[in-house]
Amino acid sequence: MNASAPAPLTQDELKTQVGQAALQYVVPGEIVGVGTGSTVNKFIEALATVKDRIRGAVSSSVASTERLRALGIEVFDSNEVEDLSVYIDGADEIDGHGFMIKGGGAALTREKIVAAQSRRFVCIADLSKRVEVLGAFPLPVEVIPMAARRVMRQFEKLGGMAHVRERDGLPLVTDNGQHILDVTGLKISDPLAFESEVSQWPGVVTVGVFAHQKANVCLLGTPTGVQTLN
Ligand code: 5RP
Repeated sequence: MNASAPAPLTQDELKTQVGQAALQYVVPGEIVGVGTGSTVNKFIEALATVKDRIRGAVSSSVASTERLRALGIEVFDSNEVEDLSVYIDGADEIDGHGFMIKGGGAALTREKIVAAQSRRFVCIADLSKRVEVLGAFPLPVEVIPMAARRVMRQFEKLGGMAHVRERDGLPLVTDNGQHILDVTGLKISDPLAFESEVSQWPGVVTVGVFAHQKANVCLLGTPTGVQTLN
């Protein structure tokens, strides 16, 4: 009888692979920037195995903070830390330049802040996140609630359709007390210009295009192993 071929790795296993692979970018003795999401949760589990070799973390969400602390990793306020050598986070989409869509977990504002204070952004993602052009994933935009309708109309002028993200039938409230719009129908061919423009609209807190804070390295989980894209 022929030995059967090994079962293909599940998406969860691909996330575990890249979460573990990201440990090689953690600098001993330093504070690590930590993102948010299911892939980052795998990284946090891996980080806990080396927690005695790092000073702690700056976290991009209440959810990640709770997870880090539960595993015995000290969490610092970003204001207590001058800069970080590395920020590890996931993405909803990433293109060949390292430009990303983020915010599927509603943590985009704090993610952008921690990314901005980090010298290197390492994106960890499974193969399904790699795209040629950003925009198939609904673009998250954190907005001040009183500006939501106006911002939605502005996206309509760009050919997008925006709706307010809900949880349990009510607008989702972010860690910062604001709302999230999810915008479909966009094809973001110039992410730098798009991010610059939308960021200036009154009432927009953060747009989920990460082009100015792009990934410097992407660890992509594939069925044949982790690919490193620089
Ligand atoms: C949260 C994010 C996440 O990085 C993004 O949504 C990817 O999450 P996951 O690893 O669960 O697919 O931007 O705001």
